[in-house]
Amino acid sequence: SVAKPWGGRFTAENDQLAEEFGASISFDQEMAYEDLQGSLAHVQMLAHTKILPAADAKQISNGLKTLMQQLKQGKLTFDTQYEDIHMNLEVLLTKEIGPVAGKLHTARSRNDQVATDLHLYLKNRLPEIQKALFQLRQTIVTKAAANVTTLMPGYTHLQHAQPISYAHYLLAYYQMFKRDAERLAFNQQHIDISPLGAAALAGTTFPIDRTYSAELLGFSKIYENSLDAVSDRDFVLEFLSNISILMMHLSRFCEEIVLWCSYEFNYISLSDAYSTGSSIMPQKKNPDMAELIRGKSGRVYGHLLGLLTTLKGLPLAYNKDLQEDKESVFDTVKTILPSLKVFNGMLATLTLNKAKLSHATEHDFSNATELADYLAAKGLPFREAHRLVGELVLKGIKEKRSLQDFSLTELQQQSPLIQNDVYQALKPEVAVKRRNSAGGTGFTQIKRQLTIAQAELAQA
Ligand code: ARG
Repeated sequence: SVAKPWGGRFTAENDQLAEEFGASISFDQEMAYEDLQGSLAHVQMLAHTKILPAADAKQISNGLKTLMQQLKQGKLTFDTQYEDIHMNLEVLLTKEIGPVAGKLHTARSRNDQVATDLHLYLKNRLPEIQKALFQLRQTIVTKAAANVTTLMPGYTHLQHAQPISYAHYLLAYYQMFKRDAERLAFNQQHIDISPLGAAALAGTTFPIDRTYSAELLGFSKIYENSLDAVSDRDFVLEFLSNISILMMHLSRFCEEIVLWCSYEFNYISLSDAYSTGSSIMPQKKNPDMAELIRGKSGRVYGHLLGLLTTLKGLPLAYNKDLQEDKESVFDTVKTILPSLKVFNGMLATLTLNKAKLSHATEHDFSNATELADYLAAKGLPFREAHRLVGELVLKGIKEKRSLQDFSLTELQQQSPLIQNDVYQALKPEVAVKRRNSAGGTGFTQIKRQLTIAQAELAQA
């Protein structure tokens, strides 16, 4: 036999490169705390069910607690020859308390152990992600409340479409981030299931109490099927896809920030705290943070696609391929947290060039729909009104005049339905104010959206 925890049926050592290739300790030490947490619950369950004598269990528990202390103090060192975090901690526990450590693995396999660790890892990190997302939603609502009457061009096809309120624009993102939070909360339900006790794949002959260890770990349920418990990574895929969608939302927002602080748009300025300069061009102030968040969305999508591909051909139950599930999760957590926090700071500190924003709505023909609606409200079929206004727009473009620059006589030549009140209707703030259909950009609608959003944030 060889000196490995599983060395009994072996007569020769592993090839050095094969050993290094198979080892996951370089990255799965990220869940060392969760592994100890899981082991502690497992051994308490073994004592509770009298599978282990109380004295042995006590010794093991104390040993695990010592390792937890040492981990916190950065005193634990791991070794590639022990492959992964599970084996490394078992070896360290043996060094700490002697051969009784070998009883910890009774009625357990690394397969349910690693699945438990990953559930715990996400369970432990989700609240921090939700908190950062919540703070971003708060920033959005605060900024929206301060900008109900700030006007900006609304776009379709990146062409000026109709004037809107800047608050309306911000609250659109509020809704997306709210759904992101809801998706994560739903994901939490699938993270919150304990695989511990599924053992290698088929359960165990020992009279274990899976509900007991699940409760100790704060899981609200146990997996009903042991094969499923050790094979399932759906909860990880859900997490990666939820974070991909969240990153996509951040990325769209970032794209607008990058555009809007360009010389051509000049709608916003970023705080120096969230900008960088150029090593050669002294005038430069670059929106690096927005670009980087936009860029990082790509790597999170990559993690999702990578794991989907890893899983697609795997027969039940455990396969070593599953070891590839972890780095993507760790990296996604390490990407989303700073992305949310940096984005939040960048948004909270950016300033609006209100004059430029509202000026952009004044001579851009984005009040053309207003004139068409005006005529339709006076009984002209909308299609006809549309054509008529289109002709006026064409004339305006040729003569470099906006719709409101035409005299009443000129307008009446186009349609006798037009009266002097048309000039009021053509003002961007009036156009915005009057869009009071449910969910529209009208000021009363925005205040309604704001009240609901504020209540949602106050409730949480
Ligand atoms: N390091 C392994 C992983 O991450 C732990 C589980 C190993 N189980 C096994 N039967 N080889 O998946």
